[in-house]
Amino acid sequence: MKPTTALPVLTLALAMALPVAAASPREDQLAAYAAAARAASPAFAGFSATRGKTLHTQNFAGGKPESPACTSCHGNDPRGAGRTPAGKVVEAMALSASPARYTDPAKVEKWFKRNCNEVLGRECTPLEKGDWLTFMLGQ
Ligand code: HEC
Repeated sequence: MKPTTALPVLTLALAMALPVAAASPREDQLAAYAAAARAASPAFAGFSATRGKTLHTQNFAGGKPESPACTSCHGNDPRGAGRTPAGKVVEAMALSASPARYTDPAKVEKWFKRNCNEVLGRECTPLEKGDWLTFMLGQ
């Protein structure tokens, strides 16, 4: 095939592949957390924004003293910006205020791991991650 004929074919193939690749990463990630939560406990009955809010605002004793809660860095208002102890501004976590958030599952996982360790002194469970994400997606 000459390059001139290969290009339209390639473009068509890409156009057909893209919608599949772009299928709602937020819902996919929530579904994966739900599957893991169900595997951990057969009593799992769905995520709860109320539990997610509690997780976000509660003070924990197991992590770093300067960051006892998610709100230590993310601020008390999910729709407003936060600030880390080092002074770095963090954009709002609420989806309504930061529509580009939670579209990169690897980024979400990376920060859950790091931040849950900072705040709780351990990784968050799939149930906790799903609850927290459900809370933020509804804010
Ligand atoms: C020590 C400061 C700090 C604390 C405490 C903290 N975070 Fe974060 N968090 C950040 C920073 C910095 C980022 C990355 C910057 C950004 O995404 O704007 C981030 C990003 C995230 C992201 C990724 C968001 C995205 O757009 O994909 C998630 C999820 C998250 N945090 C969850 C939590 C949860 C849950 C807690 C409480 C258990 C928490 N964070 C506590 C500083 C913190």
